[in-house]
Amino acid sequence: MTKKWWHDSIVYQIYPKSFQDTNGDGVGDVNGIIDHLDYLKELGVNVIWICPIFKSPMVDHGYDISDYYEIDPSFGTMKDMDELIEEAKKRDIKILMDLVINHSSDKHIWFQKAMEDLNSKYADYYIIKEGKDGNPPNNWRSIFGGSAWERIGDTNKYYLHLFTKGQPDLNWENEELRNELYKMVNYWLEKGLGGFRVDAISHIKKNFDYVNLPADGPDGLVGAWEYYQNADGIGEFLNELKEKTFKIYDSMTVAEADKLEGEKLRRFIGEDGYFSTVFDFSHAPYRIREEKWKDNYIAMVDEIRDRIFEKQLSSIDCGFLSNFIENHDMPRSADRLIPQEDISFYSETMLATMYFFLRGIPFIYQGQEIGMRDFPKKSIKEFLDVPTYQIYDRMLKEGLTKEEALNKINIESREHSRTPFQWSTQKNAGFTAGTPWFDINPNYKEINVESQREDDASLLSYYKKLTLLRSHEEYKEVFVYGDFVPFYKDKDGIVAYERKDENKRVIVINNWTNKENILEFNDGLKKILLNNYNKIFIDNASIKLMPYQSVVLEIGVK
Ligand code: GLC
Ligand code: CA
Repeated sequence: MTKKWWHDSIVYQIYPKSFQDTNGDGVGDVNGIIDHLDYLKELGVNVIWICPIFKSPMVDHGYDISDYYEIDPSFGTMKDMDELIEEAKKRDIKILMDLVINHSSDKHIWFQKAMEDLNSKYADYYIIKEGKDGNPPNNWRSIFGGSAWERIGDTNKYYLHLFTKGQPDLNWENEELRNELYKMVNYWLEKGLGGFRVDAISHIKKNFDYVNLPADGPDGLVGAWEYYQNADGIGEFLNELKEKTFKIYDSMTVAEADKLEGEKLRRFIGEDGYFSTVFDFSHAPYRIREEKWKDNYIAMVDEIRDRIFEKQLSSIDCGFLSNFIENHDMPRSADRLIPQEDISFYSETMLATMYFFLRGIPFIYQGQEIGMRDFPKKSIKEFLDVPTYQIYDRMLKEGLTKEEALNKINIESREHSRTPFQWSTQKNAGFTAGTPWFDINPNYKEINVESQREDDASLLSYYKKLTLLRSHEEYKEVFVYGDFVPFYKDKDGIVAYERKDENKRVIVINNWTNKENILEFNDGLKKILLNNYNKIFIDNASIKLMPYQSVVLEIGVK
């Protein structure tokens, strides 16, 4: 395998709206990121992914771009951005921007011109089709709920939007459009970016037909995934994209592209793949507070473990996956994965240890490192995200009461991870001097950077130990390139694995239960590399783990 600069990345994801406001308008900004580069350096990350900061009407908080060449004024200026890249460079940190090219905003000039004149060349930049008998062209459901088609004025034509109607899908079949996009990508790469996180990219190819599929819900619509997720023919577009942009700059590219198996995965992340790495979401839909896991959360743990291990094993001689437990599209990991009464330093550090040494690229989502938590709402009106309302409506249509729907949203909502960052105990958690754009979690008095930064026993300090170990000269090689071997696979609630090469063997054992667990252990302990407890019980034949204990152990090479 050819070694690449990004193989040993530890990435920190920033949701800029909620990171740090510096001018008092209540919205986080680029200068706020610059202000905290030293914090991120201290945390031990070497790559930052910033969610979209391009010009946008913010229907989907920046995932609807109206000008790819401009920074949205709410985030700052191009000068600020250039400064960020430069300041990051001084600290050996690379910046990834978020590349949203499956769709644009409906306020993008191309779409505006398309709507003005449906015969103009810009109309073919989008996916515009004739309606059928007064209905949309077919019964595809948007990923956020409701029809994926929006009627254009009083014509019989509709445009496709897989996300909100403010995000019309771009027509990748149009070569001129593709070249416009490549030009734009290269414009940014020229500035010295490390690369991109590539949004919703598995949807750029659509295999359209006018046939209505059998509905899969009371709304009469259908999630027609096979027609627009990794659809046949997508490879040609992705390859062209890579050849004309990323490859020229040796960029790091992290694709949001789920459901890739076998040969398909290889085409995406193999030696000559379309991308450097992809997120796999097979472990992401689990919510411990769902009824189904109520009396048996360990069954959920075992399922998650199986999902993660399957993916580790199937990617091993193919490429690198990106590993994560949080992002801006899901609730906070502790609330999602640990029984409420067990959420503590131990269970939180267990989760962190569990995924951090997997083979692949570890990602930390802002606030995860201090244990930020979900912020359930008392009324649906306190949510701000358009999709939240679309999902809520769908739940009501499916027969849930308003209360049931709100409860479900409070468990599932992606908005939990978007509350402003908790820097300190000061007003507005030190996030803004003005009025924050989104309510701050009142627990900021207990959970914040200020109170954890100097405390060696804090979650934040533990994250620093994780990054330090993963990038340690002596162990880096095995953590980045070493083999992955599942361990104690038949032990319920234990997620354990070995990383090994000719020179080193390291085992990572995580007790994802609130009970003690005794495991057979006769592997000749060499060194304890990390332990979230002060103690460890090991003898010649066994190891005893405390509730939610995690250990990283170096053992003798056989
Ligand atoms: C991706 C983003 C999500 C966004 C969607 C549409 O899934 O992560 O936040 O809403 O794409 O751009
Ligand atoms: Ca601001």
